[in-house]
Amino acid sequence: MKNDLQQILLTEEQISRRISELGLEIDRHYEGKEILLVTLLDGAIVFTADLIRNLSIPLRLDCIRVSSYGDSTDPETAPRILSSLKSEVGGRHVLLVDDILDTGNTMKRVHDEVLARDPESVHSCVFLDKPERRQNDFKADWSGFSIPDEFVVGYGLDYAGQYRQLPFVGTLKPSVYE
Ligand code: IMP
Ligand code: MG
Repeated sequence: MKNDLQQILLTEEQISRRISELGLEIDRHYEGKEILLVTLLDGAIVFTADLIRNLSIPLRLDCIRVSSYGDSTDPETAPRILSSLKSEVGGRHVLLVDDILDTGNTMKRVHDEVLARDPESVHSCVFLDKPERRQNDFKADWSGFSIPDEFVVGYGLDYAGQYRQLPFVGTLKPSVYE
């Protein structure tokens, strides 16, 4: 699997250092409050697992599944909610967590869905951000790393369902797509 990689963009050490910083910032922001942390399946599970172990505030966890890319690298413009939250959202502080903010369509869709359920607040934390690709005005409140417009895999991110378990983030060799 590692032979399929072109370049490593983020090492395990860089990732873990940045996640401890994010944990401190998020703890500070929500001091004295409990949050409902909503993770976007499947891509955000690795990031979420590490992020929550760097948080000290009380939290409950819920998941949401949104349709996206299939096996291609082109995003759909209208993501659909495939499986929604089981928790009561009204009056809670919701923190949305995703692997990557690309066009922003997925996060905007989920943000609207949560807002419609009358939360006390909604914020978002993404592991990666590709600002060049944005198609709306969505901005994450916290982001781990800003990256250039390149398709990346690892640390939860997949290509055609593969490479999620890599502990770092990298780009694939063009031969993998061909
Ligand atoms: P958006 O709706 O375009 O912002 O897309 C967000 C989703 O697209 C993410 O949750 C990822 O699943 C997927 N995605 C976007 N860019 C990449 C990438 O470089 N590698 C893997 N998945 C990506
Ligand atoms: Mg995803």
